[in-house]
Amino acid sequence: MSENDFENTQDAHNSVSIEKSIDYEQLSLENEELHEKVKALTEKVSAAQIENGELKANVLKMTQIIEDHRWEIRRLKNQIEDLTKTPFFIATVMELFDEEVLIKLHGNNQEILTHKAPDFEDILEPGMRVAVNGAAYVIMDILSQSTDVRAQVMELIQSPNVSYDQVGGLGDVIQEVVETVELPLTQPELFKNIGIEPPSGVLLYGSPGTGKTLIAKAVATQANATFIRMSGSDLVQKFVGEGARLVKDIFTMARSKAPAILFIDEIDAVGGTRTFDGTSGSAEVNRTMLQLLAEMDGFDGRGDVKIMAATNRKDLLDPALLRPGRFDRAIEVPMPEEQARLEILHIHTKKMHLGQDVDLAKLAKETAGFSGADLNAVAREAGIFVLRRRGDTVTMKDLADAVKKVKKDGEENRTNAPSDMFA
Ligand SMILES: Nc1ncnc2c1ncn2[C@@H]1O[C@H](COP(=O)(O)OP(=O)(O)OP(=O)(O)O)[C@@H](O)[C@H]1O
Ligand SMILES: [Mg+2]
Repeated sequence: MSENDFENTQDAHNSVSIEKSIDYEQLSLENEELHEKVKALTEKVSAAQIENGELKANVLKMTQIIEDHRWEIRRLKNQIEDLTKTPFFIATVMELFDEEVLIKLHGNNQEILTHKAPDFEDILEPGMRVAVNGAAYVIMDILSQSTDVRAQVMELIQSPNVSYDQVGGLGDVIQEVVETVELPLTQPELFKNIGIEPPSGVLLYGSPGTGKTLIAKAVATQANATFIRMSGSDLVQKFVGEGARLVKDIFTMARSKAPAILFIDEIDAVGGTRTFDGTSGSAEVNRTMLQLLAEMDGFDGRGDVKIMAATNRKDLLDPALLRPGRFDRAIEVPMPEEQARLEILHIHTKKMHLGQDVDLAKLAKETAGFSGADLNAVAREAGIFVLRRRGDTVTMKDLADAVKKVKKDGEENRTNAPSDMFA
């Protein structure tokens, strides 16, 4: 073997081992690459997993949103149904027949004969407020017994049993009331013959306890008329939203009870100057007031229902109420003067056993500032003193003590109480 040959062999040998070492490196390189790839893929997988989780959460969210939308759609569908279906109307039961019932729709006053639903057959009564379906006017529900509500704002006395001689010291007022209220009721032809129109409504105004209610009751008694009293403050305070309807109801009822005197007490609560300030309270008063005006306008002064009203504050009344055709006669019921006080004291002590020493004239002199109601209280208190000592005679001392007591009680409520009496 030559030197060259050896070198060649050596070269060959070398090249083989080099080749072998290149392979190894290549492999480890590839291995590393693969590792990298695996690593990248693993990362991708976990990224994908995260994404998947997010997507799943999104899907869940979407499902929820879809569900919400479905719910909203259902709600809107119901609303559309409610809005498009025929509404319920409110009506009042007028008359009951064997099979049918006559109702009167509120609002347009249309009278409708409808069937009695078996559910309500035995409960229905004239005057009840019911809800009827707008298509067939079938009674669907009973809302309230309006007669019940009416009873709470209204007092009806067939005959109040008060005579004019139970009213003391108001001769002039009574005369005026006779001419404007009693005679038009009892002898309407008088007015017709002379050709004058009696006033539509008469307003009594004056301080508390001066006998306004008493006079109204006395006229009703004298004219053989039903006395219907409604309270203005109850109308607007107790039955918010019902005031106007109640006014209408009560006027309707008054007509059905004719001859009648409809007495609106505390009319200032309803007919105070209309200062519409946008609150629901004042809107309520306004609606009630407008209804009252409308009812008054529909009245004939010569009819057999007379309207009287009372207030402590005429100055607060809306001038619209005092216009012709409404309360076009205002009569002042004054606080009693000495002579009137004496008359009132006589009236309220008439059934009492008075002692020899009792001097009603002296009491009348010393009770300046007392109203009729105060004097009534004096008689009552004196009676209680007698009762307390099991006596049977009212003495001057009883009456004087009673005056002191009434005065003291009054001072607790009144600021303008008379002072230094019986000091
Ligand atoms: N002039 C009077 N004659 C006899 N009694 C009277 C008189 N005024 C008042 N009274 C007595 O006082 C009571 C209350 O009077 P009445 O209710 O009529 O007063 P009013 O003027 O209506 O008061 P208010 O403004 O507070 O409603 C009467 O029931 C009566 O007993
Ligand atoms: Mg009164």
